[in-house]
Amino acid sequence: MTSPLKILVTSAAGKTGLPVALQLLEQGFAVRAFVRRVDVRAEQLETAGADVFVGDQYDLGDMRRAMAGMTRAYHCAPTAPNGLHFSAVFAVAASEVQLEHTVILGQWLTAADHPSLFTREVYLADRLLRQAPHMTTTHIDPGWFADNYLMLLASAAHLGLFTMPLGPGDVKRNAPPSNEDIARVAVAALMDPKTHAGRRYRPTGPGLLSPDDIAATMGRALGRKVRYMNVSERMMTKALRANPPSNYSEAAVSQLAIYADEYRRGSFAINAPTDDVETVGGQPPEDFETIVRRYVAAQPELAPSPLRRLGAMLSFLKILVTPALDLARVARDRDYVQITRPAFCQDNEEWVALHVPAPGLDRRPA
Ligand SMILES: NC(=O)c1ccc[n+]([C@@H]2O[C@H](COP(=O)([O-])OP(=O)(O)OC[C@H]3O[C@@H](n4cnc5c(N)ncnc54)[C@H](OP(=O)(O)O)[C@@H]3O)[C@@H](O)[C@H]2O)c1
Repeated sequence: MTSPLKILVTSAAGKTGLPVALQLLEQGFAVRAFVRRVDVRAEQLETAGADVFVGDQYDLGDMRRAMAGMTRAYHCAPTAPNGLHFSAVFAVAASEVQLEHTVILGQWLTAADHPSLFTREVYLADRLLRQAPHMTTTHIDPGWFADNYLMLLASAAHLGLFTMPLGPGDVKRNAPPSNEDIARVAVAALMDPKTHAGRRYRPTGPGLLSPDDIAATMGRALGRKVRYMNVSERMMTKALRANPPSNYSEAAVSQLAIYADEYRRGSFAINAPTDDVETVGGQPPEDFETIVRRYVAAQPELAPSPLRRLGAMLSFLKILVTPALDLARVARDRDYVQITRPAFCQDNEEWVALHVPAPGLDRRPA
């Protein structure tokens, strides 16, 4: 039986929005899925029973129409500029319908004076949405997603190379969660606000992995040897410009460079792994090999062939001849808000206090 509660899922065609919407539908909730275009993902949502709303999440008129009649929502700002604008539009529309509960996808790195503008905006949105008198909130702050590594599966499959600027291959610096496990934690909080209001969760995978572990796991799933190659930040921006994931602007790429810096500093390993997926989401987190095997099974184009190997080599050559992104120019041209004393997470007392448990405590309050 369908519940009378109505839940709005923003970014519903995205990495976490799609599994959040599908898992809620499986649980019998009525879901309105906010997408920006009709495509195979929108069709999947519709087939699963969602009320698909096509519009622009940054447009207050569209957000008001999407929010009409809703009781709870999943707030997920796209990995794109203007996240704070999205959150302001969401907050206005949510207050007009007196939304009762929102689950907010934030970041592990969320900090007031972070060098990343996107992250500072996530921090501000987190604090702003908590001020709404009509609404409770739950905060989901995952670290570096497993999905980020798996955007490079084609190069692993056809060239045996896993290239990222993650530092030395043997240092274990991340416990990557799957999109589905992040969604499980968000869905638990959407289904039961009484238990989860005011809480902050940091879903992770089951164990810390090194870049060499990640390459070896990809190799097992692909049935070939895969080697990790540490590359410079410059090379990362060349790769993202040469073969950009469809939704990453130059501004987003400039922020990814800062996140890779945090990765090398070890910030994603602080107090990781957590048990939030199991205790909140209700089942143990997926291990990385299970996640990789799922992605490999869904992409028949990863199977070896001379033509695909040639294609991968040409993509690699394209990276070498693509100019690097001038990160200072991006910040200047976009007229970014700049702050005088940015601090990485581990230099920020508030962040450290929230991530390192006090002696005798194994978890921290929100
Ligand atoms: N990746 C990580 O490692 C990581 C780690 C921690 C936190 N996060 C947080 O994760 C969040 C992103 O979540 P996600 O990865 O689940 O999302 P995502 O995959 O980036 O999805 C965003 C969705 O929003 C849609 N969209 C973009 N602009 C739109 C517009 N104007 N109107 C309507 N829809 C629009 C996109 O549509 P199309 O698909 O059609 O382009 C996409 O489906 C960010 O806030 C980031 O801070 C990410």
